Amino acid sequence: MSQNTSVSAGSAALRLPSRVLITGGSTGIGFACAQLFRRAGASVGLIGRSEPGLERAAAALRQDDGGTTGAIATASASVSDEQAISSAVDRIAEAIGGLDAVVLSAGVDGELGSLVPEVTADSFREVLETNVLGAFLTVRSALPHLRRSVDATVTIIGSDSGFVAVPGMLAYNASKGAIVQLTRALAVELYETDGIRVNSVAPSVVDTPMARRGLGDEVMDAPPFPIQSAEDVAWSVAYLSSGQARAVNGATLLSDFGYTGRSSFPA
Ligand SMILES: NC(=O)c1ccc[n+]([C@@H]2O[C@H](COP(=O)([O-])OP(=O)(O)OC[C@H]3O[C@@H](n4cnc5c(N)ncnc54)[C@H](OP(=O)(O)O)[C@@H]3O)[C@@H](O)[C@H]2O)c1
Repeated sequence: MSQNTSVSAGSAALRLPSRVLITGGSTGIGFACAQLFRRAGASVGLIGRSEPGLERAAAALRQDDGGTTGAIATASASVSDEQAISSAVDRIAEAIGGLDAVVLSAGVDGELGSLVPEVTADSFREVLETNVLGAFLTVRSALPHLRRSVDATVTIIGSDSGFVAVPGMLAYNASKGAIVQLTRALAVELYETDGIRVNSVAPSVVDTPMARRGLGDEVMDAPPFPIQSAEDVAWSVAYLSSGQARAVNGATLLSDFGYTGRSSFPA
């Protein structure tokens, strides 16, 4: 990894990648990751489907640059379109001079609230194709670029929904469960062949457009459960992408305020 960028905390500094590609980078968690890496001086490349969304995000990053000189590139593609994502990844890599790290934050939540008899094959397929196939296709497209970097990383945004389930989130739960094992499978193979680390972050509810669409502003503004910010998740991504996490591979960092660790014993 080329690690010219850093975030300092007193005398300690997180050694961060210099050239970062982020899918789903125009909003929510992906955008918070772009902001964090950019503030640390990195060049960032954003991929999403909406061109206006990408342009808005790039403009916001430019305004927020804090004097950093890293490039900002955008490319529109759906992660589940094999040709389009491959070409978008190549365009981003060319525009920012290569890739040290990839963050996979593109995702959809599907037909929230639909119970098993109501879930359509089309929406189930769309969630799996975006969240799982899209992650694989993006990593495969980025591989030739990551191989040219030293200590390259991939960080996937999974979810606590890969570990716990509620009624009405069938396809999403299945897709995020798959991310836990996709992370391991990619990690063991890519570390052996290329020294590339692959990890994921599995947050509980995060205040983003996706959660606000799904739960509504009323719930999100006065939540009866703990909510984290997109920036909280970005810091987990930053750590996993950093040189300091060099021994961490195939891991899923569950960030859920400890909810999944709670025993059923009522003490
Ligand atoms: N918010 C939460 O509570 C929460 C909790 C745990 C995990 N997560 C996960 O975090 C990730 C980011 O979600 P978010 O909460 O930040 O929501 P978000 O703001 O809706 O971000 C999702 C991003 O993915 C992009 N995207 C969706 N489908 C795509 C496709 N086929 N190809 C390329 N880009 C696509 C969207 O941009 P376009 O529409 O322009 O394509 C958007 O920028 C997701 O994987 C989500 O499952 C979210």
